Formats: sequence, C-alpha cells, structure tokens
Amino acid sequence: MKSLGNIRRAFAPWTDPSAKPFIAFKNVTKRFGNFTAVDDLSLNIYHREFFALLGASGCGKSTLLRMLAGFEQPSSGEIILDGTDLAGTPPYKRPVNMMFQSYALFPHMTVEKNIAFGLKQDGMPKDEMVERVTQMLKLVKLEQFASRKPNQLSGGQRQRVALARSLAKRPKVLLLDEPLGALDKKLREETQFELMDLQQTLGLTFVVVTHDQEEAMTMADRIAVMSHGQVVQVATPGEIYEAPNCRFVADFIGDVNIFDGKVTTSGSGAVEISVESGLTIRTGATEAPATGTTVGFAIRPEKIRVTRTAPANASVNAAKGEIWDIAYLGDMTVFHIKLPGGKFVRASSLNAQRSVEDPFTYDQEVWVSFDENGGVLLKD
Ligand SMILES: Nc1ncnc2c1ncn2[C@@H]1O[C@H](COP(=O)(O)OP(=O)(O)OP(=O)(O)O)[C@@H](O)[C@H]1O
Ligand SMILES: [Mg+2]
Repeated sequence: MKSLGNIRRAFAPWTDPSAKPFIAFKNVTKRFGNFTAVDDLSLNIYHREFFALLGASGCGKSTLLRMLAGFEQPSSGEIILDGTDLAGTPPYKRPVNMMFQSYALFPHMTVEKNIAFGLKQDGMPKDEMVERVTQMLKLVKLEQFASRKPNQLSGGQRQRVALARSLAKRPKVLLLDEPLGALDKKLREETQFELMDLQQTLGLTFVVVTHDQEEAMTMADRIAVMSHGQVVQVATPGEIYEAPNCRFVADFIGDVNIFDGKVTTSGSGAVEISVESGLTIRTGATEAPATGTTVGFAIRPEKIRVTRTAPANASVNAAKGEIWDIAYLGDMTVFHIKLPGGKFVRASSLNAQRSVEDPFTYDQEVWVSFDENGGVLLKD
C-alpha cells in the first residue's frame, strides 16, 4: 500500500489543463414539476478519481448520481462519459453501476447468487460467471460466506456483498450512494480504507455520495460541496478545509470561528478588519475588499492559541477573554472563550502529553491569538 500511497499523492489530473475529464456534467438541470433539484450544474470528474459529493439532505446528490446512471433524464444540459453524450443511452448500456443508498440484497438468494445476479441477466456463460463470482468473493474477502443468505451476515458483510455485486459487471464507473450509511463508526472507518484499496487496485472511477464530511475527507481525491442543487466548491479535502471559498463551505466543513467586521485598511495584500469586542484582525488577501465594507473572517479552532500572558504584538490578531467552557475530548481539548463583547471563540489544542502541569481552568482570564495567515477572508 505504501507505493500506492505515493502514486495517490501525485494524482491531480484536474491541475493539468490538457487532461480530458472522464465524466462531464455540462449545465445540467433537473426539475421535478416546478421544483429544481439540480440547478445548472457543471462538473468534471477524471479517470481513476475518487470523487465525493457532499451536502445536506435534499441538496440533489442522489439525483445527480441517478442521472449519471440513467435512472433519471436531465431536464436540460449534457452528461458526457468518456467522450460520449449519454443522452438516450439506457441504464443497462452505460458502463456505470450504482450501489444504492439502501443496498437491497435479495434475501432469498445466497451471497454467491446475489453477486452473480447481474451477470446471469446479461447471459454470461456459466464457467466465466463462476470464475467472476469467485474473484469478487475474494476481492471483498467473503470466500467463506458464499453460501450464506444475507440475514446470516453482519451489516458490514452485507455491505461488502452489495459492493461485490455492483463491481461484478466491471463497470468503468462505480456510483456509491451513502455506501457505508448502515455501518457503525469502527466498521465504517475500516470499510472506508477497503473501498480506497479496491478503487486503486481495480483502477476505477468512483463517485461517492455522503453527508459525512470526515468520510469524504478520508476517501476522496476531490470533494464537491453541494447546496440547493448547485456545486459551491470543488477542491481537494485540504483546500476545502484550509481555503473554503465562501461562508457556507467554511461553516459546513469542520469547526470554524467566523468574525464579521468592517475593513479599515486594505491594500498590498494585507487587510485589516475591526471586529466588535475590540479585536483587530490583520490577514492576507488575494482580492482586497474595499475599505468600509463588511466582511467575514474564518479561522479554525486549532489555529487559535490560548495563552496566559499577552502575545508579543497584542494589538492585532489577539484578544483577552475568559474561559467559559472546556471540553476534554481525549485527543484534544476544546475551549470556549468569551470575548469582552460577548462573542465566543472556539480554540482547540492537541493533548500531546498525558498530563499537563497547571492546566487551564474555568473562568480563567486568557489571551487568544492567531497568525496572520491562520484564517481566510470570506467574500460573502
Ligand atoms: N422523483 C422525485 N419527484 C419529486 N421530487 C424529487 C424526486 N426525487 C427527488 N426529489 C427532490 O429533489 C431534491 C433532491 O433529492 P435527492 O434525493 O437528490 O437529495 P439528496 O441530496 O440525495 O438527499 P439525501 O442526503 O437525503 O439522500 C429533494 O428535495 C427531493 O425531495
Ligand atoms: Mg440521497
């Protein structure tokens, strides 16, 4: 797996202007009556990419997958796969397979028969079919369970049967709609890594829908954050987290502090914002906003330092506050700190040592501070 990890790190076809997307949604809209479920959406996905669609319930994730699989037709726009417009191609003729949100296995059929189902329907010769099913059982490590029925399996095993069934026909693209939704946390995490291994071993393109951001961050090369039928940002997990392109994404992914304030100085890459509660924020900006406008500044809790004494330059990016709440989470501790104006700041620190001499306590007066490049300016 080590070497594959290295390949993975070098995988970034979206940064190459000459790379052709494998799947392209071009201005795709889907209306149900007068409700718009997918709204003029354009998106490129590359060959062998592990792509995640992330967004709140009802934002159009399943609808997007269903259109790619051919179960729904776009109201307008085009979906291109490997250079071919998919309009008019029925689902069974698309090199795409979908693992559904509720992966219904056939309860009266054995694991083996469940996996063979699609192949049999396609009229695959018996020998070939047996060989393929054996291969699939091995792939998902269920060889010993071949003759069991689904109700004799654990949730995780059932999930692997569904996966084997959707991979048996060797689709070029596998669409997974909340594939791990039914699993408990531990099994979910294990299976995430199994899925990543499988995807790399088979060299397939995966599009996975999830509303679990940690899952998307773990598995995906890139994530599309969706809201109300539109893609709000498409980027790598790291970019989405560290450089959200708007308030919605900053707030949706991970924990964040957002300060709203007025721009007092702007120019030459640095912006100063004055926030209620006396805090002055200085930060870099690629596009400097006009002086006097109201902007937001987003900063993650782990980028905020908590100290007993004032930092060296306490006139910017620092404020005095009071510890209001302490949440010990094992690996880290989260502090809720109340600033004089009443705003709460969340700051987290890693518990790298098993015990700390003289730890912070409730009601203690502390300083919060952060670096100039610790957060991002929000445009809206
Ligand atoms: N056949 C349909 N007829 C009418 N409305 C539909 C139909 N299918 C989906 N919708 C609506 O379209 C919107 C998007 O649905 P979709 O299933 O794509 O959401 P989702 O992002 O997958 O949500 P979840 O995370 O809950 O699965 C929802 O508001 C849903 O009610
Ligand atoms: Mg859905």
